[in-house]
Amino acid sequence: TSLKHSHTFGLNASCEKIHYIDSIEALKLHYQRSDRQAEYILGEGSNTIFLDDFEGDVVLNQLKGKAHQENENSHNLSVGSGENWHDLVSWTLAQKIYGFENLALIPGTVGAAPIQNIGAYGVEIAQFITSVEFYDIDENRMKLIKNEECRFGYRDSIFKHELFNRCFITAVNFLLPKKHTVNATYAPLDTLIKPCPEEIYTKVIEVRKSKLPDPKIQGNAGSFFKNPVISKEKLKSLLATHSKIPYFEVNDSAVKVPAAWLIDQLGFKGKEYRGVRCHDKQPLVLVNSGNGDGEGLLMLAREITQKVTQAFDIKLENEVRLVGRQGLVTL
Ligand code: FAD
Ligand code: EPU
Repeated sequence: TSLKHSHTFGLNASCEKIHYIDSIEALKLHYQRSDRQAEYILGEGSNTIFLDDFEGDVVLNQLKGKAHQENENSHNLSVGSGENWHDLVSWTLAQKIYGFENLALIPGTVGAAPIQNIGAYGVEIAQFITSVEFYDIDENRMKLIKNEECRFGYRDSIFKHELFNRCFITAVNFLLPKKHTVNATYAPLDTLIKPCPEEIYTKVIEVRKSKLPDPKIQGNAGSFFKNPVISKEKLKSLLATHSKIPYFEVNDSAVKVPAAWLIDQLGFKGKEYRGVRCHDKQPLVLVNSGNGDGEGLLMLAREITQKVTQAFDIKLENEVRLVGRQGLVTL
């Protein structure tokens, strides 16, 4: 079965079979079967690149539905993991439920949002998640994990580690306080004068449309690498040789450096291997020029990481999940 239209990068790849999961009953039945192959769980494929034909099945999430309750202080939402994230953001704003506006237009499903703790323009989704419901594939039963146990970090959570491929997330529970303070400190939102959530939503959409390639037009998976977090000591020694390096404080001892800047310095913009190209405007994004293949992608990504290590002694990590014939591939 072709996976070309099941991941936003759009490489030609296939899997043995796609299992569509649209109810908890279907999910339980699927995992109770004894003849299961190697499997990969998939949402909208906007953070996954299939590099080659995957020798296993794909379990595709289509669990829908949302429930809304409110009390004096907050809105509580329980959302099916197969709902589209941006549709949820738009729906909340239309209901005058505020908090998600900075995260508008991030592609993908609600269920994948906690996995890498989606973030943009100064907000991370972890801040609104109370708990995540999932089916434990090893134990064949439903479970609930509280926010504090999810170990949310920058583009990170327990779902990328111990729980990877062991849990199928079925629903995400959110709490959005009624007393809401907008977050407009992150550029370019800081140019807005006393913005309301609706204005932030509109601005974020406008900025994202101008900066990031639309996967419907040009295959991509957003930022390919994470922005590296380095110690302040390390920053000091880098500044001695690269005085213009931009950085953002993370805590007392660490800073985050934009990977786009590092890649840009090394002249990768527009570089292309076998149809996979480093984007001309935002070099942190790799794009499919139309006929790209997995080998080209690995060549380009590995050359970028090697050159960045050589020049800055910084190890870039891929943000996107790369899937080869046997499963996850590391750079
Ligand atoms: P998929 O790619 O389908 O899956 C991602 C991972 O989660 C895989 O490992 C998969 O196995 C696992 N998974 C998916 N669903 C489940 C489930 N129900 N249970 C268990 N495991 C599951 N991300 C940001 O954080 N911020 C951004 O600003 C941002 N911008 C982007 C812009 C573009 C143009 C694109 C293409 C991507 C961008 N991303 C961004 C990345 C992406 O949108 C997010 O990572 C999103 O949450 C992925 O959702 P998905 O359903 O497509 O995930
Ligand atoms: N830059 C350059 N050259 C360029 C472009 C950018 O040097 O051509 C430098 C500039 O210094 C710029 C900096 O990179 O200030 C940051 O660029 P940008 O604002 O485009 O953000 P980013 O760091 O590339 C991150 C997230 C995005 C998120 C935006 C907005 C990561 C890995 N990426 O991108 O998330 O939308 O900030 O908050 O953290 C994603 O995860 O897929 C994603 C798109």
